[in-house]
Amino acid sequence: MTVAPVARRASAYLYRHERVRLAGLLSAPMLWLAVLYLGSLAVMVVSSFTTTAIDEIARNTQRPIWFQLYVQRDRAFTKDMVQRAVAAGCKAVCLTVDTPVLGCRYGQLSFGLPSSLECVHLRGLNLKSSVPTHSMGGIYDPIFDPSFNWKDLEWLRTVAGVPVLLKGVLSPEDGRRAIDYGVDGIIVSNHGGRNLDLLPATIDALPGIADAVAGRIPVLLDSGIRRGTDVLTALALGAKAVFVGRPYIYGLAIAGARGVERVISILRDEFQRAMALTGRRSIAEIDATVLWKQMDTPVKTLRSPAAGA
Ligand SMILES: Cc1cc2nc3c(=O)[nH]c(=O)nc-3n(C[C@H](O)[C@H](O)[C@H](O)COP(=O)(O)O)c2cc1C
Repeated sequence: MTVAPVARRASAYLYRHERVRLAGLLSAPMLWLAVLYLGSLAVMVVSSFTTTAIDEIARNTQRPIWFQLYVQRDRAFTKDMVQRAVAAGCKAVCLTVDTPVLGCRYGQLSFGLPSSLECVHLRGLNLKSSVPTHSMGGIYDPIFDPSFNWKDLEWLRTVAGVPVLLKGVLSPEDGRRAIDYGVDGIIVSNHGGRNLDLLPATIDALPGIADAVAGRIPVLLDSGIRRGTDVLTALALGAKAVFVGRPYIYGLAIAGARGVERVISILRDEFQRAMALTGRRSIAEIDATVLWKQMDTPVKTLRSPAAGA
């Protein structure tokens, strides 16, 4: 299980108000599961729009961190931002590809960050505001580069020098294309449903993408993970790991670091029970046969084995 990148609010709360050390947060019990899923240590993905500098975050954790990238219109600036993250120890770059512009987020129109907080990685861009504006005057926001395309991936891979994953893939064609362009991993994501209405649930998009990718690169799943059974289903359908977004933010809002730990431990408990109840002794034993398949039932129904099976 991987902690999804969230801009400003969560990081602001964690580091400025609660003064939580990442080392403490990431040693929360659940995160070892990512070790099993990914064959590596648990990961926290740090947003481009965090209010705490990547170097400071890196200094406060022993665990791997990845950097989530929103490409800026100034490519030299983007290069510096990526290389600073890599120099701080980021093991991978997650390029968010589903946000050339913000979706219609009417609920955010009245949202404002406290003036003491800023998106530190955007310092030096001389922006009027480093917060996505959701301006009704035009769809383009100065802090996203909508022109970035497949051909630019080669540049990014060279600049980064660490694995590059695409966050926001929803179609098998894009999965195949990502491999053609040398991408190291795919994150099936609909941005938590925050950008575009009517996108499919990621759990429904996952099987087609996993088929198209056919194990050539890891496929991870983001958006909508709420219960341990969701984790089990994602792994059964071909995901190597899952990301959790809002659940941990809600835990954070209610009880700070302890709230995050509680959310993670509930998910771990639910996941382990779901494994036991479907007769799976290890992650390696989770495959499509864990799912109840019948023409007239949804693919997401689980199957519990007969006693002794
Ligand atoms: C408050 C908030 C801020 C977010 N900021 C970012 C961001 O800076 N970059 C990004 O790629 N995704 C961002 N996301 C999307 C998450 O990384 C993730 O895709 C999504 O929350 C997953 O869905 P879930 O919340 O249902 O788990 C944000 C989500 C939330 C709720």
